[in-house]
Amino acid sequence: MSTLAVIGAQWGDEGKGKITDYLALKADLVVRFQGGDNAGHTIVFGKEKYALHLVPSGIFRPDTKNLLAAGMVINPLSLLEEIDMLKEKGFDCENLVICARAHVILPYHQALDTFYESLKKDKVGTTAKGIGPAYMDKAARRGIRIGEFCDPARFAAHLSVVLPHINFLLESAGMETFDKTDLVERFKPVQDRLRPYVGDGAAVVNDAIDKDLKVLFEGAQGTMLCLDHGTYPYVTSSSPTAAAIPINVGIPPKAVHKVLGITKAYATRVGGGVFPSEISGDTADSIRQNGNEFGTTTGRPRRIGWLDTVALRHAVRINGFDYLAIMLLDVLSGVDELKLCTAYELDGERIDHVPASIDDLKRCRPVLNRMPGFTGDISSAKTFEDLPQNARNYLEEIARLVGVGIALFSVGPGRDQTVLLDTFF
Ligand code: GDP
Ligand code: IMO
Ligand code: MG
Repeated sequence: MSTLAVIGAQWGDEGKGKITDYLALKADLVVRFQGGDNAGHTIVFGKEKYALHLVPSGIFRPDTKNLLAAGMVINPLSLLEEIDMLKEKGFDCENLVICARAHVILPYHQALDTFYESLKKDKVGTTAKGIGPAYMDKAARRGIRIGEFCDPARFAAHLSVVLPHINFLLESAGMETFDKTDLVERFKPVQDRLRPYVGDGAAVVNDAIDKDLKVLFEGAQGTMLCLDHGTYPYVTSSSPTAAAIPINVGIPPKAVHKVLGITKAYATRVGGGVFPSEISGDTADSIRQNGNEFGTTTGRPRRIGWLDTVALRHAVRINGFDYLAIMLLDVLSGVDELKLCTAYELDGERIDHVPASIDDLKRCRPVLNRMPGFTGDISSAKTFEDLPQNARNYLEEIARLVGVGIALFSVGPGRDQTVLLDTFF
């Protein structure tokens, strides 16, 4: 087995960045394959804390190559900002490749993101990074790709075709329009700086796989935010699942060998949309505080809920998880009684799956199993046996309910606060 997908099993922010960085020690290549700077992946080692939005979380490992693959939508300004931040901290980014087929997010995408949200009564609560509008342009075949963007003449030619459409929308919304010459001039220095990184992402990954090198695919967002299989329309505009990797990277489906599903020991969601196991009050507040549950990208407080094993089984079905990683277990220490959502109740009937209809899902109430909580500081646990009995019972019950073995658990943000139960990469 040489390739492993790291996939969010919930609504994002499960700790994908931490685990990708941890596993990247052994990886030759780390690939981000979808989304853009709506992602916020936190990596903590030593005294440093980094928030990555676009650059894959393998960047801190000097021998690991990092690729932004074709399926991504990339804000060139955010990417440069991130590269500059990393260089300032001593990470030279020499091992970074941007696929020429990835699409760019331009300032008008961000303007339209905000505009479309303003029209909605029931808001998605997007990150306002322009993700949806950039994927809309891609699907409508008027997107601009990194390869063309980095060639000023081709960029100008593309803008001539695209801008009349965009400006028509902005003008009818009473918003400021964009000027081609201004954009062309403004982005010239950006293009000069990004050009050296641009390559053929599919070739990079296929070569690595042919040589039997170790490749990690780093998901952004989570399965419940999937455009196809998430809580539509309260989702992002790409598919963060293992199934999306082949098409978004340009490799055969069989090249994704194993899949690691990442989940918190509880649940969070940021932004709008249905969240059946959501809780409020003192327990939610203390979990939010202990887990520092504020968005890495937008700073918004995250909504808190009990672990939803119905949603996790949905994620298992879609992704075929071979292993589970349970994150932020330490945060639950001190919670008197732990609850696990094992089923939903819909109109008086018990169901054990996520209904396809969002209106049905909105009416679902969680069926909760109670378990005694655990106390004490577990943040330096090194083995399963170091955990209090009730914490062990909790993990075992999760594995049983979800039907997937736990390959690792995490007891703090740091690299060394990771306990491996299985060697899988
Ligand atoms: P990602 O988007 O999936 O990479 O996750 P985020 O970085 O947005 O959010 C996860 C948060 O939890 C970050 O602040 C991490 O530093 C933190 N974190 C990760 N694992 C643990 C853990 O086991 N315990 C605690 N307390 N924090 C963790
Ligand atoms: P990481 O990779 C959590 C959410 C937004 C909003 C919805 C659509 O850090 O796990 P978008 O800007 O994508 O159009 O917003 O998706 N969202 C995330 N929530 N973690 C993320 O990424 C997210 N990326 C988008 O809050 O509800
Ligand atoms: Mg995040």
